[in-house]
Amino acid sequence: MHRKVTKAVFPVAGLGTRFLPATKSVPKEIMTLVDKPLIQYAIDEARAAGIEDFIFVTSRGKSALEDYFDVAPDLEAALGASGKTALLDILRSTNMESGTIAYLRQHKALGLGHAVSCASKMIGDEPFAVILPDDVIAAERPCLQQMVEAYQETGGAMVATMQVAPEKTSSYGVLDVAKEDGPIVSVKGMVEKPAAGTAPSNLAVIGRYILTPQILANLDTVTRGAGGEIQLTDAIAAEIEAGRDVFGYRFEGHRYDCGSKAGFLQATVAFALARDDLRDEFAEFLAETHAARHTAP
Ligand code: UTP
Repeated sequence: MHRKVTKAVFPVAGLGTRFLPATKSVPKEIMTLVDKPLIQYAIDEARAAGIEDFIFVTSRGKSALEDYFDVAPDLEAALGASGKTALLDILRSTNMESGTIAYLRQHKALGLGHAVSCASKMIGDEPFAVILPDDVIAAERPCLQQMVEAYQETGGAMVATMQVAPEKTSSYGVLDVAKEDGPIVSVKGMVEKPAAGTAPSNLAVIGRYILTPQILANLDTVTRGAGGEIQLTDAIAAEIEAGRDVFGYRFEGHRYDCGSKAGFLQATVAFALARDDLRDEFAEFLAETHAARHTAP
């Protein structure tokens, strides 16, 4: 058995330029799928995987996130007084216990690798998870839980991976595959945003990771990579070069890229259709809208 993973880092210090002007004042992670912010999906997934300590790497302009996880005494009192207990329960389920959540600042958006390295001192000498909240994964068994269970068998470092269309590989970190054993992929190399036609496979890395303290040490020495940013992929690839194990994990579930407008809209539709209280009305609206589009002159 390998050491239990109890800490997770949530890098949320990016600029979120693809959602401007909204992200001028609203952190991307507070944007909602139906009625729940992206960050809440990430927290729920982490909790299901046994995470106890939640470390946010934030930046200027993200204080709405800190407020979101705080208690809201006035709101609670108002809901309590009017007997709205179901809403009160929902509200309380978003409160984070004091001492379980920490916020660190990344002063400059130097890249995902740099954001993760900001959490180095809080992680110490143990394996930890990284969750990118803009990747929302709908799954029967939450994705990070699947990975934590697999990690208990494999150890090493592990990244969530999924097949993408060949023309999309240049937007991702891509795995060079040594061997596949069910959902577990042994990796012999990794490259961030490979130029078109040069990707070693169609297996892309998406926003769930289980990492070792050694990767934090690697981040201290990696130089700026793709896009001039300090890339997490490069620090993980350095593990492979040093002869240590890195695995991909082909999770079960559907991943929505909520960092992109198209992905966010798809997730909104899928999550609305999954809701008992919205499904019928919304499905009817979609069918009508679709039909109107096809009959329009
Ligand atoms: P993205 O590549 O999606 O960048 O970052 P972004 O800034 O959030 O969005 P766009 O591309 O400008 O629209 C992936 C994840 O890494 C975090 C982001 O917050 C997001 O969760 N990140 C990225 C940081 O925390 N710091 C960085 O310097 C870069």
